[in-house]
Amino acid sequence: VRIAVLGTGNVGATLGRRWSACGHDVCFGSRDAGQPRLQPLLKQTGCRACDWPAAVEQADAVLLSVPWKSVFPVLQQIAGVVRNKVLIDCTNPLNASFTGLEMGFTTSAAEQIAERVPDARVVKAFNMVSAATMADPQYGAAPATLFYCGDDAESKAVVHGLAEGIGFSPVDCGPLSHARLLEPLAMLYIHLAFHGWGSHCAFQVVKRSGSFLPTETEDDDC
Ligand SMILES: NC(=O)c1ccc[n+]([C@@H]2O[C@H](COP(=O)([O-])OP(=O)(O)OC[C@H]3O[C@@H](n4cnc5c(N)ncnc54)[C@H](OP(=O)(O)O)[C@@H]3O)[C@@H](O)[C@H]2O)c1
Repeated sequence: VRIAVLGTGNVGATLGRRWSACGHDVCFGSRDAGQPRLQPLLKQTGCRACDWPAAVEQADAVLLSVPWKSVFPVLQQIAGVVRNKVLIDCTNPLNASFTGLEMGFTTSAAEQIAERVPDARVVKAFNMVSAATMADPQYGAAPATLFYCGDDAESKAVVHGLAEGIGFSPVDCGPLSHARLLEPLAMLYIHLAFHGWGSHCAFQVVKRSGSFLPTETEDDDC
C-alpha cells in the first residue's frame, strides 16, 4: 500500500516505521520536511518526506496523525487531493488540558473530519492504542485488540490488513458514527496510562462459544 503519514511524532513515526518495514511505500507529510529532527527517521526507514498535499497525492491511504488542533488546517490543505483515498483517523479530540474530550454523544472527531472532506473514505483506527503498543502489539500470548469503524467496507478491509500486518488483532466496530464510542475508549486508556498502567498497556477483547440470550440458538446451557 502507498501510505502518506501526516505528522511525524510518536504515532506517525512509529506506524510509518513499522509499515515501511513490512514493505509498504511510506511517505511522511510534515510541516517542515527539511527539519533536522526528521533525518534519523528518514535514514532509518529509507522513506521520503514532503509537504502534506504532496505526500497525499501519491498515496492510496493516508494516516492523519497530528494533534487535534492541527486537524482542520491539515484537511484544508489536502482537501483537493484526498478524494477517494482511505483516510485513517487516529486522532482524539482532547481538550487543552488533556483531561477530557471536546465532543461526544452526538458527533465525533471522525465524523467531523468526514464532513470536512466528504470525498475521502474515513476510517477511525489506531486511536485507542498507545504508540508503545503500535511499536509492539504483542502482550504475552495474545495481540492487542485494534478497534476500527467506518462506512466503507473496502477501506475498512485496507485498514484491517494494515493493522493485522503489524501484529494487531483488528475488530470491525461498525459504522463511522461508532467513533463516538472509540474516542471515549481512548480517554479511558489515557486515564489508565496516567494512573499506574503506563503506556505499555492495551485492551484485548475475548470471546468464547456458547449462547446466553433467548434469541441465541446454539449451546443454550442455562
Ligand atoms: N501518542 C499516543 O500514544 C497516541 C495514541 C493514539 C492516538 N494518538 C493521537 O494521534 C495524534 C498524534 O499524536 P502523537 O502522540 O504522535 O503527537 P506528537 O508526538 O505531538 O506528534 C504530532 C506531529 O504532528 C505534526 N504537527 C502538525 N501540526 C502540529 C502542531 N501545531 N503542533 C505539534 N505538532 C504538529 C508534527 O509533525 P511534523 O513536525 O512533521 O509536522 C508532530 O510531530 C493525536 O491526535 C493523538 O491524540 C496518540
